[in-house]
Amino acid sequence: MKRILTGLQPSGELTIGNLIGGIKQMVKYQNEYESFMFVPDLHTITIPQDPETLKKRIKSIVALYLACGIDPNKNTIYIQSENLYHANLSWILECNTYMGEASRMTQFKDKSQKVKNVSVGLFTYPILMAADILLYDADYVPVGIDQKQHVELARDIAIRFNNKYGKTFTIPEPLIPQVGAKIMKLQDPTKKMSKSDENIKNSIFILDTEEDIRKKIMSAVTDSENKIYYDPENKPGIANLLTIYSAFANLSIEEVASKFKEANYGTLKKEVADVVVSNILDIQKKYQEYLNSGIVDQILDEGNKKVNQIAKEKYEEVLRKVGLGRI
Ligand code: TYM
Repeated sequence: MKRILTGLQPSGELTIGNLIGGIKQMVKYQNEYESFMFVPDLHTITIPQDPETLKKRIKSIVALYLACGIDPNKNTIYIQSENLYHANLSWILECNTYMGEASRMTQFKDKSQKVKNVSVGLFTYPILMAADILLYDADYVPVGIDQKQHVELARDIAIRFNNKYGKTFTIPEPLIPQVGAKIMKLQDPTKKMSKSDENIKNSIFILDTEEDIRKKIMSAVTDSENKIYYDPENKPGIANLLTIYSAFANLSIEEVASKFKEANYGTLKKEVADVVVSNILDIQKKYQEYLNSGIVDQILDEGNKKVNQIAKEKYEEVLRKVGLGRI
């Protein structure tokens, strides 16, 4: 059975972009593939974090995974930092990655401009991500478009390693959703919606109140044409709202565009708000139940045990091939 794997950083409150680009795909594929869903907390400290807040977010993100439909019977769920093999493998992969290719990562270029003191970890982050993927021989990695380049780097590293040391890693492929691979900011629909946006009006968070969700959507930036059709280049605001509707109503973009072709912008926004609210309120209710149930720890303990064994075997194979240690 093919294996899929993904993770979402506990670096802030999750947005509907994370839900659509990362989680919804896992929910869709968990019936078809052996699924691994983890919390990449080591990635999160590439940018300064408050330790207490980070610790809370780690468990809370797992409760959100469950609330969004990640089935613990179909997924192995675990925390990256509880498995020492991720960082160890990352080091070996770093020694098989070129400065040139790591320097091409566009997310590093963006993120490094936003922080004052850029950590070395922020630069090597995609290589740790390659370790997350290659350690488990994942065939597919469901992500939004912003992570595609990182998965491609993981592919390049795996191919190089296999050529140098003999077949060791499965070559992973990114799985990008057809709709919603890049949900845009509500106030500036030419840029990606993000967890860490300073302007909270740009993002809809999964834990936002109904009132906030409605307000944010009703005040989303559009254009003055007052005609509804899907044209991301010339009508990015309307295209973004149609995309959000399509993802939450499980309809294609064509179906959504045709549904709203006679409507005005006010009606479109109201209907987008309705569909987002009904989905999100359901998730929030389940989230509270999971968070208070104690089940999160139990799931993580089981997941951790399972992945440690898999990772140990792969890591030892790597040590043998590279000539490290005494194995
Ligand atoms: P992160 O935490 O930034 O984002 C989590 C997932 O959400 C997707 N995403 C979006 N999709 C659509 N529209 C948006 N506006 C949007 N914003 C974010 C991301 O593409 C991602 O799928 N490096 C990763 C975490 C990671 C990982 C891994 C993922 C670490 N190791 C191994 C897969 C496999 C990250 O920072 O994602």
